[in-house]
Amino acid sequence: MPRRPPRALLALAAAALATLSITVAVAAGHPAPTTLPAGGLPYQDPSLPVADRVHDLMSRMTLDDELGQMTQAERAALNPQSDLATYRVGSVLSGGGSAPSPNTAQSWADMYDNFQRIALSTSLGIPMIYGADAVHGHNNVYGATIFPHNIGLGATRDADLAQRIGHATAEEVSGTGIDWDFAPCLCVARDDRWGRTYESFGEVPEIPTAMTSIITGLQGATLGGPASVLATAKHYIGDGGTTGGVNEGNTQLSEADLRAIHLPPFKAAVDKGVGSVMISFSSWNGVKDHGNHYLITDLLKGELGFGGFVVSDWAGIDQIDGQSGFSAADVDAAVNAGIDMVMVPTDYKGFLNTLRAEVNNGHIARSRIDDANRRILTKKFQLGLFEHPYTDRSYTATVGSADHRALARQAVRESQVLLKNAGGILPLAKSSKVFVAGKSADDIGNQSGGWTISWQGGSGNTTPGTTVLQGIRSAVAGSGSVTYDRYGNGITNGYTAAVAVIGETPYAEGQGDRPGGLGLDQEDLATLSRLRASGVPVVVVLVSGRPLDIAAQLPNWNALIAAWLPGTEGNGVADVLFGDYAPTGKLPVTWPSSSSQEPINDGDGQTPLFPLGYGLTYPGGGTATPPPTTTTTTSPGPGGCAADYSVTSTWQGGFQAAVTVTNRGSAPISAWTVSWTWPGGQTVTNVWNGTYTQAGTAVTIRNASWNGTLAPGASATFGLTGTGTAAIPTMACS
Ligand code: GLC
Repeated sequence: MPRRPPRALLALAAAALATLSITVAVAAGHPAPTTLPAGGLPYQDPSLPVADRVHDLMSRMTLDDELGQMTQAERAALNPQSDLATYRVGSVLSGGGSAPSPNTAQSWADMYDNFQRIALSTSLGIPMIYGADAVHGHNNVYGATIFPHNIGLGATRDADLAQRIGHATAEEVSGTGIDWDFAPCLCVARDDRWGRTYESFGEVPEIPTAMTSIITGLQGATLGGPASVLATAKHYIGDGGTTGGVNEGNTQLSEADLRAIHLPPFKAAVDKGVGSVMISFSSWNGVKDHGNHYLITDLLKGELGFGGFVVSDWAGIDQIDGQSGFSAADVDAAVNAGIDMVMVPTDYKGFLNTLRAEVNNGHIARSRIDDANRRILTKKFQLGLFEHPYTDRSYTATVGSADHRALARQAVRESQVLLKNAGGILPLAKSSKVFVAGKSADDIGNQSGGWTISWQGGSGNTTPGTTVLQGIRSAVAGSGSVTYDRYGNGITNGYTAAVAVIGETPYAEGQGDRPGGLGLDQEDLATLSRLRASGVPVVVVLVSGRPLDIAAQLPNWNALIAAWLPGTEGNGVADVLFGDYAPTGKLPVTWPSSSSQEPINDGDGQTPLFPLGYGLTYPGGGTATPPPTTTTTTSPGPGGCAADYSVTSTWQGGFQAAVTVTNRGSAPISAWTVSWTWPGGQTVTNVWNGTYTQAGTAVTIRNASWNGTLAPGASATFGLTGTGTAAIPTMACS
C-alpha cells in the first residue's frame, strides 16, 4: 500500500472533509474578520526588530490562530481552498509531483499567489509559507533545470559549486512563488541498499558537512534577500544509518557513533543558519525520531542552538504509536518532543481539532505552542513574506534558463568518476566511429532519477534536456559517426568503441530499497553481451543512484564511468567521454566488490572494489591536484598527546582533512587541544567532532564534549574543511 495516497484519492478525501467545514468552523468560534487600522500595527512595520514584530503579532493571535500556524496541508487536500483562511492554516506544500495543471512555471506562480491571497484575507493577514522538494533543481516543475542528485555532487567535492547550484535553484523556486525548499538532505548513507542513497552527498560526515554550502546558496547570506528561500536540513537524524538500509527503519547506534557519523552535517547546517529542520521517519534504537524529545529539543535546539523551526515529515507523526493515522498520543508526543510544524498533510481539520483538545486538556502546554509560533513567525518575517508575499515574477524566466543549464552541465562534468580506463581508451577522439547502446543512453527520465516531475520519477522524455546520446552526437565531428541501438542490435566490429549507458530506472524512498542485491538488470546484461560479442571495446557509463554490483562484469569492460544521476544536462557526460573535461570526480561512497558486503564503508576492514575517494583522470589531464603527501605527527606533548594529520580530499579552492589525536602517555587525558599556524593563508570553514577558533593564521581545535577523555593508547578523530590549498601544518598537541 503506497504510503502516499494517489492524487485522486486525496481529492476525494478532501471533498468528504469539506462537508464538515461549515459545522467545524462555527464550532471552532473563529473570530469574525476585522479590518485593521489603515496606519498599520507594529507587526506590520518592517522597521521594527523581528522579535518585536513577532511579540506584537502573537499578542493579537487567538489559540486557533497559533494552532493554524503549526499546520501544513498538501495543496490538493485543501478543498475548498478557502479552508486556508477558515482554519488559519499557516503552510501549504506540494508533495513529490503535486503540481498545478498545466505544469508550467507561470501556473505554479499563479497557484502560489492564489493561495497567498486567501491566506492574507484573514483578520491578521499572516502570509502562508509554501514548501516543496527542490532537491536537485526545481524538480517538480516541467522545464526546470535538473541538477545531478546529491551523490553526484558529493563526487565533485566542490562546495563552491554546490553553493552556486543552491542559488540557481533558489532563483527558479522563487520564480514560481515557492519560498521554502525541503532541501538539502544531509543524510550520511551507510548502506547502499537504501533507496535514498542518491540523496546523500556521501557515506562519511565530512562530505555532506562540506556541501552544506548549498544552504547559503538557497537562503543567501541572510534570509529575505533576492531569491532567498528557506532551506531545510533533513532528515534529522540517522536516516542513512538504518539496519539493512531499510527506509524509515531503525538506526542502531551508540550515542557516540550517532554523534560522530550523523550529527556533523546538521551542526554545520545550524552554524550556517539553516531555517528549518525536517525530522526523519527512522528510529534511533527503537524510538521514533518524531517523538524523541532528547534529539529534537535537548540536542538540536539546546546543544546545537538551532533557532529555526522543526517540521515533521509527511504524516510522520502518525508512525509514533505504530498505528495508522494520527492519535492524540501521536500529537502530544510530536509537539512535546519539539516539532513546531506538522506536515499533516491531508486531514488538517482533524489535526487542528486534536491539537486544540490536547492544549485545552493540558497535555500540551501553551508555552510550547507559543515557542513553535515564535519560531515559525520569525522565519516568515525574516523571509520578508509580510512585505513581499507574492511571487517575484522577475525570476520566473530563470526556470530552465541557459545559464542554469550551463551550471548544471559543469556539475555533471565534475561529478563523473572514472573508475577504469584500460589502455587509455578514454578520452575518445571526436573522429571516432561510436556505437551507442543501453536503456539510459537516450532517456532524460532515467538520467534524472527519482524526484523528477513525479515523486518516483520515470523513464522517458519526461522534461526538456539533453540525453547522453544527444551529447555524444554533438561531440562527434569530422569523419566520426554515431550509431545507436538501445539493445546493441546490429553492432559489428570496426567501431572505435561501444558506449553502453546502463544502470537503474528511477525510484524514490522505500521503493528504491534493494535488500535483494545491487546487480545489473537482465536488459543491461543482454545488451552488454551483444556488445562484447562484437569484439568492439566497451565503455560503460553507469547511470545509477548508488554503486552497483558489477565486479563480475568489469573485466569485460575497457572503461567505466560512474555518472550517477546527472539530470537534464547529459552533454556533461559527453564532455568527459571526449576529453573536453578531464574527469576529476572522486567516489563519495565505497564501491562494494559484492552486494553481500553491504553495509560497506571506509575503514570498516572490508576490501572494496573501489575505495572511498577513488577516481582516475586522463594522463596529463584533469584539473584536480592530487592531495599532497598526507601525514604529519607531533611528538607526544605534555601528558602524551600526539596528533596525526591527513588530507582526505582536495577540490578547487578547498580541502578536507582528518586529524587523529592519540594518548601516547601512561595516564588518561581528560581534554585535549591541537593547535597550529597555517602556512599559506588557509581558512578553516568547518570542524566536526571538535570545536575550533581561528585568529589570523592561528588555529586551535578543542575536543567535543564526547571525545575529550582518552585512556592511554586511545584516540579520537576530528575532521575539518578549509579554503585554500591543502596544507600539512606543524601541530602542537596538549
Ligand atoms: C517525503 C520525504 C521528504 C519530503 C516530504 C515532502 O516523504 O521523506 O524528504 O520532503 O515527504 O514531500
